[in-house]
Amino acid sequence: MEYLQIRGRRPLTGTCAVGGAKNAALPLMAAALMIPGETVLRNVPDLSDVEVMASLLRSFGVSVKRQGDAVVIDASAPSGGEVPSSLTGMLRASTLLLAPALDRFGEVALAPAGGCRIGERPVDLHLRGMSALGASFDEGGGVIRGKRQRRRAAAICLDYPSVGATENIVMAAVRARGRTVLKNAAAEPEIDDLCRFLNGRGAKIAREGNTVIIDGVTSLSGGEYTVLPDRVVGGTALLAAAAVGGDVTVTNVGTDQLAAVASKLAETSAEVTAAEHSLRVRRSGALCGADLRTMPYPGFPTDLQPPFTAAMTVAEGTSVIREEVFENRLGFCDELVKFGAGIRRGGGPAVVRGVESLRGADVRAEDLRGGAALTVAALAAEGESRVFGLRYIDRGYEAIETMFAALGGDIVRRSTEEGA
Ligand code: UD1
Repeated sequence: MEYLQIRGRRPLTGTCAVGGAKNAALPLMAAALMIPGETVLRNVPDLSDVEVMASLLRSFGVSVKRQGDAVVIDASAPSGGEVPSSLTGMLRASTLLLAPALDRFGEVALAPAGGCRIGERPVDLHLRGMSALGASFDEGGGVIRGKRQRRRAAAICLDYPSVGATENIVMAAVRARGRTVLKNAAAEPEIDDLCRFLNGRGAKIAREGNTVIIDGVTSLSGGEYTVLPDRVVGGTALLAAAAVGGDVTVTNVGTDQLAAVASKLAETSAEVTAAEHSLRVRRSGALCGADLRTMPYPGFPTDLQPPFTAAMTVAEGTSVIREEVFENRLGFCDELVKFGAGIRRGGGPAVVRGVESLRGADVRAEDLRGGAALTVAALAAEGESRVFGLRYIDRGYEAIETMFAALGGDIVRRSTEEGA
């Protein structure tokens, strides 16, 4: 079993260039199923979730090959069919294949999606939106079975700006007849990346604030596209710099996309400097506690709430952390307590009373971003820690130990089998 061995309290200094975003790459890969030709996606991160999405596409008879940082997807002659539940169960984003499969085959059968257990994560908004666009669904036996009855445009207003539902609805509307107007859509940068990609393939999608307008087209064609940089990985490095202390510059990020994080870090009295495509965080003095409420974009991203919470465990004063996007995304706090963190948690927010120093501990990640939080806490803790559960962390961070070691962290990946 693999784990991270971390000796904490080494200041983090240096520059970290961010690679492609998992949450952009996965919908783009799914959308490639709609394109009867070759799609070349560049800057695709080397992550287990990307591998699972590739296997899902292959189960539809699509050719997917990795070439360096690119993924080459050829969906010229897909076969369709039912996707193995062993694969859908490994990835939440498998639901993003609903619209592309309906578009390409006229029908789809998808076993329940897996992914991190951070909430119930229903797909009602996805299905309602796609139904308005002419599909029908049956969820008997836990499998979502869909049929495309017709390709019609619609006026849709989401009850909540769900990222995945927005992506599925946009994809379903691309080849509908007429103009679809999707209101209260998610505004995450990864949605814009999907729209840019599809527009490059022949789609006609425009955004006006939280409204996405899609004029249906009849065909899409292959081509190349470079995936957006990963704001969550960049944000994790910045939050780690605040937690541990040091001077870290993250390059190759859209600074606007991390505006909520930069502004929250400034509240904690970390020094934040933004340049055109980079953000720098310096912290030498004490960190102050700050309250947090997660929100859809452009609010503070739920994916960075766990590493922010980890930073607050060593800040002066009390911080109240309200997770408003996923109802069960504070579970990692129970592991943070093993480092000596002062966290009180009932059913509601987590109340974090900062301590002077954390102490090393053995902890286990139970979800991706919670795992990142435990890594940040271990980097800030006095003494040695072991972080287990790397299969979660590897879903969203390309060798997290390499990123932090390059910044001066004492962190290595080990296996319990070593020396056995
Ligand atoms: C995506 C991201 C994830 C991020 C999240 C919020 C990917 C692959 N994952 O997940 O990293 O944390 O956005 O920024 O891009 N909901 C419903 N009904 C639905 C759909 C969602 O009630 O039909 C609820 C969810 O249970 C959750 C909230 O809406 O409470 C947000 O979910 P959503 O925005 O859909 O997140 P994902 O697309 O799953």
